[in-house]
Amino acid sequence: MAGFANQILVGKQVDEGRKLDYTGWLDYFRSNKSKYANLVMPQALMCRDKARNAALAATLARFQIGETGEGKHLKSQALKVEGPVYLETMDLFLREENNHADYLARVIGLLDGRLLKGHWTDAFFIVFRRALGLKTELFVLLVAEILGQVFYDCVAHSPEYEELSELFATIVADEKAHLEFHIQYLGLRMQETLPGTLGKVSRTILYAVWTAFFLAAMIVFIADNRRGLKATDTSCIDYVLNCLCLLENAGRRIF
Ligand SMILES: [Fe+2]
Ligand SMILES: [Fe+2]
Repeated sequence: MAGFANQILVGKQVDEGRKLDYTGWLDYFRSNKSKYANLVMPQALMCRDKARNAALAATLARFQIGETGEGKHLKSQALKVEGPVYLETMDLFLREENNHADYLARVIGLLDGRLLKGHWTDAFFIVFRRALGLKTELFVLLVAEILGQVFYDCVAHSPEYEELSELFATIVADEKAHLEFHIQYLGLRMQETLPGTLGKVSRTILYAVWTAFFLAAMIVFIADNRRGLKATDTSCIDYVLNCLCLLENAGRRIF
């Protein structure tokens, strides 16, 4: 992933002024789905601890509903602001999220859990995402991406759910690419919209606002999903530290 990211970042980032070249990302998203063809889904799970399974299923259901959206608003913004190539890339990204939703639904079934029809945190994220323009929507989306990636990584490394390790490691690899995709876009556009010393001050303030929003979302997530984290044998502190690591990396490159 790092090599691919560098290639996009260095070689194909800017084309004709403010237009971006997404050819590399289009190729990436088009070919990426094929790796799921060889993935072996477990038919059952070894863990017989019903409370643990229920806790994990409940947290996964929160993320599952977030991965199901069609992204109509995001796509209309992508077309309006950046044009058809970015829209196509965004569409492929959203399809990848929908693919995650399908796999998560199957895992929730294995855990004897139930899918959610809606959840207030998801509605909250949607309202915030749509409040302003494309960049705001992506900033809010990044928060969910980081919280999700870190939790999926907890499942991938959970000793109680070794059968799910390959699936979740695969999803985590996708999520890493998603972060890279959005970080590259936001980094470029922030530098472009807010250049120079005055722009740097504005970007620093925006970074502080985004960090505050991230921390609030993370605290709400942990308060709501302590048992889900415990089900993967992850401490809240480890979850926080891993989230902060991704937050710092994203913030440094975007702002
Ligand atoms: Fe996802
Ligand atoms: Fe994602």
